Amino acid sequence: EIPESLIKRFPLRMVHGIPLMEPIAQNWKHVEEFQARPDDLLIATYPKAGTTWMQEIVDLVNNGGDIENAKRAPFHIRVPFLELAFPDSGVEILNKTPSSRIIKTHLPFQLVPKSFWTLNCKTIYVARNAKDNAVSFYFFNKMNAVQPEPGPWDEYLQTFMEEKLSWGSWYDHVRRYWDEKDKHRILYLFYEDIKKNPAREIRKVMKFLEKDLGEEVLEKIVHYTSFQVMKENPMVNGSTVSSLIFNQSISPFMRKGEVGDWKHYFTVAQNEVFDADYQHKMVGTTLTFRTQI
Ligand code: A3P
Repeated sequence: EIPESLIKRFPLRMVHGIPLMEPIAQNWKHVEEFQARPDDLLIATYPKAGTTWMQEIVDLVNNGGDIENAKRAPFHIRVPFLELAFPDSGVEILNKTPSSRIIKTHLPFQLVPKSFWTLNCKTIYVARNAKDNAVSFYFFNKMNAVQPEPGPWDEYLQTFMEEKLSWGSWYDHVRRYWDEKDKHRILYLFYEDIKKNPAREIRKVMKFLEKDLGEEVLEKIVHYTSFQVMKENPMVNGSTVSSLIFNQSISPFMRKGEVGDWKHYFTVAQNEVFDADYQHKMVGTTLTFRTQI
C-alpha cells in the first residue's frame, strides 16, 4: 500500500519543453538512458487514446488468444509504464522484466529513449480524435489523485488547446508519430477504427506482430477486448490500482468507451472555437480523424 501522505496532485515540470508530472521529471535521467531491447514492443499513445485497450489486444495476440493467460496479472504489471515514477519506477520494473517486453509510454516521439529507434523496435501508436480524447482526459484527471486538478470543463478545454496538459500537446503528439511512422516500424492505428471494425484492426496488429491466429481466435479476442467485457474484467478495469489514486466513484476508469461522447460536453460555442483553433494547429498534415462513426 502507498502511504496516503505521499499522494498529491503533482505539479507539472518542463522536460525538454514538455510538461510532465514532477516525479517523472525528477526521474528523467533514468528514462532518457533506458536501454531498449530489439524484441521490445512499444505501445505509444497520448493519454486516454485507448492505451489499455491496445495493451489487452497485444497481450492476447502475443499469447495466441489465451484468455486465462491474460488474467495472470493486472494490465499495469503485464505492460509496464516506461516513464512512470510514482508509486513505482517503470524503468526499474522494466530492467527486471524478462524479454520479450511490452512497454507502455505516453511520451511524445522526441522524448522516447533513443535506444528504441536505434534498435528499430516495433511500436504500435493509437490516436484518438482530439474532442473525445480531451473529454476522456478531463474525467481521468478528476478521478486520478496524482494528476493536476482539471478545474471546470471550460478551463480544462482551454488548457488542452494551450497544450499545457501532462505529456504536452495532443496536436504535436499525433502529428509527430504520423510523420515518423514510415521511417520506423510504427503501426499507426485509430481508436475510431478499432471501435468501428475491431476485427479488421486486430488483424493489422496480428500481421504486425507476425502472429497468424486464424478467424476463431480473432473473434475470441474481439469479444474479450470489447468495452463491456473489459469493464467487468478486474485485470483491466483499474480495480487493481489503489483507490487512493484511482477514485472510481468520481469517474470509472472504463468510463464510456464511445466515439462522439464529446457532443455531451462541448457547447456550440466551444466547438466553434475549438474547430477554428484545430484547423490552424493541424495545417499541412495529411492526418485526419473521425469525431463520429
Ligand atoms: P472514455 O473515457 O471515453 O470512456 P487509456 O487506456 O489510454 O487510458 O484510454 C482510456 C479510454 O479508452 C477511456 O475512454 C476508456 O473507456 C476507453 N476504453 C478502454 N477500453 C476500451 C474498449 N475495450 N473499447 C472502447 N474503449 C475503451
